[in-house]
Amino acid sequence: MTDVEIDPFERFNRAMGMGKIQDPYPAFAASRPKGIEKADLRLLLGEDAAAQGALAEGGPPIYTAYSYDAVCQVLRDGDTFSSKMYEAVMGIVMGHTILEMDEPEHRQYRTLLQQAFTKKSLEHWEHELVRPVIDRLIDKFIDRGRAELVTELTLPFPVDVVAGLFGIPDEEMKQFHIWTVELISVGLDFEGALRASGEIRDHLKVLLEERRAAGCVGDDLLSILGRAELDGHRLTDDEIFAFCRLLLPAGAETTYRSSSNLLYGLLHNPEQLDLVRNQPATMIPKAIEEGLRWEPPLLTIMRQATRDTEVCGVPIEKGAIVITNLGSANHDTGRWDNAEAIDVLREQHQHMAFAFGPHMCLGQHLARMETRVLLEQIFARLPNLRLDPDGDVGPITGLTFRSPTALPVTWG
Ligand code: HEM
Repeated sequence: MTDVEIDPFERFNRAMGMGKIQDPYPAFAASRPKGIEKADLRLLLGEDAAAQGALAEGGPPIYTAYSYDAVCQVLRDGDTFSSKMYEAVMGIVMGHTILEMDEPEHRQYRTLLQQAFTKKSLEHWEHELVRPVIDRLIDKFIDRGRAELVTELTLPFPVDVVAGLFGIPDEEMKQFHIWTVELISVGLDFEGALRASGEIRDHLKVLLEERRAAGCVGDDLLSILGRAELDGHRLTDDEIFAFCRLLLPAGAETTYRSSSNLLYGLLHNPEQLDLVRNQPATMIPKAIEEGLRWEPPLLTIMRQATRDTEVCGVPIEKGAIVITNLGSANHDTGRWDNAEAIDVLREQHQHMAFAFGPHMCLGQHLARMETRVLLEQIFARLPNLRLDPDGDVGPITGLTFRSPTALPVTWG
């Protein structure tokens, strides 16, 4: 098969899974006692000497925050630690989104966008969208008795959910999948991502105009965003399209990876898998939080210091980039015993997978609901799910984004 013929998700999965670091956690543990330190570029960029040189030369100093307290201090204080530097890459591809805004602009837009994630909307989407999407994907492989869960379920389902939020018609889903993969591959092919970004905007424009002609009365995301209002202010078309594009990396890629990580952790620890599937109502929510703590899908996010300051006693100069290592914070042994292990029964504390402070994930309740429905349907429809002894499990890999490349399973 040529590259063009294979499924776009499989192509993405192969490209992102290759040659990636398997276990960076011992290195994080070694740095964590310092709280925050000058960044080790090998830990950021792997062994790519050219990239290390480009980043080190003439740029601002770079620090990495490793401990829970250091990460918390940076993310909580949006005045001292700005998100504006996302404009340089993400902003060009996505448009001006809340991700790159500081206060007070950020709060104003976030409040407007929050109107799309009310409890009522989530209930509607759970029954009308998320459950049917997951069931349709399981229908495709259930008669086979075995499946590769990453390619066949966890990778496509959050993209189908985001497409459903926009109201993309079924016949256009294949094209939407291709654009999604191009957009989220921004680190591999910037030009391709830029092209996909424009195509998604042109496509959403047609859909938004249809919603406006119908008075924006529907429960789909475009209608909700089209009618959202705060102090007489409405979102412009460009603001709506920028937000929609942001949902692909922010909403689809993270959920695909976090649900894959959780399934990986449960399938490799059958006694924990049994605990969860025997008491789904109480144990699924606990398993979701523990999965997010144990292997957050997004390990690092960035901020830039707006003034000379100090984090955990370490001076940080104005202009310095601070990388907050969410994975390392989630493994801080001052907060969690035996933090390297997944343990669905452990006492739960606030973790950093969704970040913290003003930019804490806007879609966290949607992500939890999607993952809960995924597990409920897997347990209900694939009894005695287990790793396929004849399959090749791909390990969890990655330094920025992390997830397994393959989860071959069987059931019955
Ligand atoms: C398990 C899945 C998810 C994880 C681990 C996750 C993680 C994160 C993190 C760490 C941030 C902070 C980024 C930063 O400040 O630099 C963030 C922000 C955000 N997330 Fe999520 N996310 C998930 C799912 C979702 C979903 C399903 C949506 C919506 C469909 C979503 C929408 C957003 C948005 C819009 C922001 C920007 C918030 C702001 O800047 O105020 N996320 N997410």
